[in-house]
Amino acid sequence: MDILIKNIKGLVQVEEKPRKWVAGNDMKELHVIQDAFLVIHEGKIIDFGKMAEMPNVKAEKVLDAKGKFVFPSFCDSHTHMVYPTSREIEYVDKINGLSYEEIARRGGGILNSAKAMKNISEDVLFEDAMKRADEIIKYGTGAVEIKSGYGLDTEEELKMLRVIKRMKAASPLTIKSNFLAAHAIPLAYKGDQKAYVDKIINEMLPLVAEEELADYVDVFCDKGFFTVESTDRILNAAAKYNMVPKIHANELDYSGGIQVGVKYNALSVDHLEYVGEAEIEALLSSDTMPTILPGAAFFLNMRYSPARKMIESGLPVAMASDFNPGSSPSGNMQLILSMASVLYRLTPNEGVNATTLNTAYAMGVQNQLGSIAKGKIANVFITKEIPTIEYMPYYYGSNKVETVILNGKIM
Ligand code: NIG
Ligand code: FE
Repeated sequence: MDILIKNIKGLVQVEEKPRKWVAGNDMKELHVIQDAFLVIHEGKIIDFGKMAEMPNVKAEKVLDAKGKFVFPSFCDSHTHMVYPTSREIEYVDKINGLSYEEIARRGGGILNSAKAMKNISEDVLFEDAMKRADEIIKYGTGAVEIKSGYGLDTEEELKMLRVIKRMKAASPLTIKSNFLAAHAIPLAYKGDQKAYVDKIINEMLPLVAEEELADYVDVFCDKGFFTVESTDRILNAAAKYNMVPKIHANELDYSGGIQVGVKYNALSVDHLEYVGEAEIEALLSSDTMPTILPGAAFFLNMRYSPARKMIESGLPVAMASDFNPGSSPSGNMQLILSMASVLYRLTPNEGVNATTLNTAYAMGVQNQLGSIAKGKIANVFITKEIPTIEYMPYYYGSNKVETVILNGKIM
């Protein structure tokens, strides 16, 4: 079906020539066409411009966006939204003073989810995750990366990855899957990280590759979790299957995770609460997208990544939700946009760049998504009537999205 959206108050993040990402000072700029139109044909964006120059378009569906903005859908490049159960009890423990690492050491946290994973069927896991997918669609997300990592065991990791595969077929979201067996050391391997890493490399990776279950590979390279040496071994083994890394790094310490990620050409390194000169240097000479997860730092009440410093050093910065039951139980990217400015001092323009084009790069879909450009997939949302683009992060907590279009279809 052809769709024409007309009288758009502001068409946001338009690109004549699609870019790889937006970095440094350029992040301050957001290309917007005021009083615009947008034409969608066979699921793709085929034309846009000023109303005054609108050609004669015959569309089956005409939407009037007077007083409303049109954005490219958010790309959420880091989530764990396939999970068995919520973990609000731990959240109360945290409020009462236990740290994330203390909870992990007591067998809570990720291990808690791994225990619950054994007791949930693939079908229920799928149905629950699909409900979450529907929820984030309503908040304006059009693409999402989903990780395994609550299995920590061959069968259970495969189960999670199969669920993500089913979601790719069933959901209108564009989905990428990430194999994260190295998320925590399972109880059976307590004190023997090497043996578990051997199992990941020798047993899990070949099966995941054979079934083509993962687009990416992940490791939680941090203090108390996986060492640089283990990370190096896993990424080295994954490279033989052409699996590109997107890893968890430097959330709890200067872990060396950023450097080992860069060494293996990671598409992104994520979290980044601990970033100094050496980490910035490594990132500047790489194609790796530094990705901050504001929801996790906010929810765990931990330190914030030096986003401004990274941008001022010339780096691009992406921001994703980290939607998961332990450290960030929300996939609401509008909230991430608000956190970007309130907690990290990003301007609203920088925030939009960080959550659209840069997250598209961080999940390998920048050629199809992340901006309004001819030929890209028509994943866009129309806002309610709002006064300005700045109002999006400003009016935090409420859903400003009114109409969602994914793959050229009105949801
Ligand atoms: O990205 N940092 C590691 N992993 C997740 C947390 C997952 C969990 O606690 O369930 C994260 O924050
Ligand atoms: Fe994560």
